[in-house]
Amino acid sequence: MFSKEIYINRRNQLKSFVGSGIILLIGNEQSSMSFKDNWYPFRQDSSFLYFTGLDTPALAAIIDVDNNTEIIFGEESGVDDIIWNGHTPSLKEMAELSGCSTTKSFNELKSFVKNAADRHQSIHYLPPYRPEQGLLLSHLLSTPLTGVDAGVSTILIQAIVSLRSIKGKEEVEEIKKAVAISEALHLTGMRESRAGLTEAHVAGLVQSVAISGGGNLSFPTILTTHGEILHNHYGNHILPPGKMVLLDAGAETAMHYAGDLTRTFPVDAAFTSLQKDVYNIVLNALQTAAAAVQPGKLFKDIHLLAATKLTEGLTALGLMKGDAKEAVAAGAHTLFFQCGLGHMMGLDVHDMENLGEQYVGYTPEMKKSTEFGLKSLRLGKALEAGYVVTVEPGLYFIPELMDIWAAEKKLSQFINYDQLPAFRDFGGIRIEDDYLVTPTGSELLSTSLPRTVTEIEAIRQKALA
Ligand code: GLY
Ligand code: MN
Ligand code: MN
Repeated sequence: MFSKEIYINRRNQLKSFVGSGIILLIGNEQSSMSFKDNWYPFRQDSSFLYFTGLDTPALAAIIDVDNNTEIIFGEESGVDDIIWNGHTPSLKEMAELSGCSTTKSFNELKSFVKNAADRHQSIHYLPPYRPEQGLLLSHLLSTPLTGVDAGVSTILIQAIVSLRSIKGKEEVEEIKKAVAISEALHLTGMRESRAGLTEAHVAGLVQSVAISGGGNLSFPTILTTHGEILHNHYGNHILPPGKMVLLDAGAETAMHYAGDLTRTFPVDAAFTSLQKDVYNIVLNALQTAAAAVQPGKLFKDIHLLAATKLTEGLTALGLMKGDAKEAVAAGAHTLFFQCGLGHMMGLDVHDMENLGEQYVGYTPEMKKSTEFGLKSLRLGKALEAGYVVTVEPGLYFIPELMDIWAAEKKLSQFINYDQLPAFRDFGGIRIEDDYLVTPTGSELLSTSLPRTVTEIEAIRQKALA
């Protein structure tokens, strides 16, 4: 963890933002896979981690703003825990690492919350995203489970979003480590893919790099020759010659900061001529969008800029027609680019998404759109120095979607429907890099991972030699 001063400072900032009441932060518990003691890998709640640094299951923190006190709730390990799981630091030792002076038994949390409520202190808590968090909140607040969501604290969400969005120097260092491990796992995927291997075989090699890096994956790997399916994970499909592999994967460090990168490369040593043309359209959109990343710029405008570049490329290729800006304004590009250009990244790969996309990616004046395409844009608001974002344009040729639009002749002034059949089996291409927004522009964090056709083909040729 970072030094305790970092956590003390974060909690002080949180207290001054929230102003009054008590803040209840719930850490995650172990989660069972198939029987009680057969756990998924433990993953701490990211906001709990941000404000305490404590990466141990079954803890909670109370930050009493009115009385300026901070308490860590948990249980000491018993003999059985020590026998099966080994020695863990005492609650007091953990709290000290975090700069908290007081600890209490988890059993006292309910009466603490009740006493605060009886004194008319507001209880600030975050929206639950795991069933057990909802159940615990229902118990602590003496509220039916169905009433928990209604009591979520908007000011706490806003405070946390404002703090976690701006990455400190020490966080940027961790994110750079995560991105470096993510680059290494991509190189492994790019070097080890072969026609005849299964997606799962390569995905396993990719994951091994994340684990060897000290943490794990930051999300389940997407590794597929059906890149048009946006979040297609991996399976036992065989990599066929002639197709492309879309690999979207990232590592998180031992401290749980994430990387998130995508590359698309040929199963063979070289792209086909058509694959190369489409790849270069996506690369041009990435480069144009990345050059526009700077403080004050609406990410939504950068998304639309990327969409315009994709549309110009598809027009040159003969798939689209007309004025690219008009086509984008009409939403014609969403036949091929159905999702958003990127998102915040930090302790979560989609940073703070559990707090609500409207709060993280938009403002009270700027509501998230419900239109096809824009409804999947997780970040629309103006960028600020200290944000870390992904930029990830793509072109996705989804046969079912092309059929639906073709049957309706939808926006046929912008789409050459007679050209679509040649793309039914094409798949999809995404290229994704990670950027720190700086006071004057942006810094590319994934500097060393190849992204041009020439660089990627050089790696594939060497791998297959
Ligand atoms: N890893 C999913 C995404 O790129 O957002
Ligand atoms: Mn990704
Ligand atoms: Mn991403």
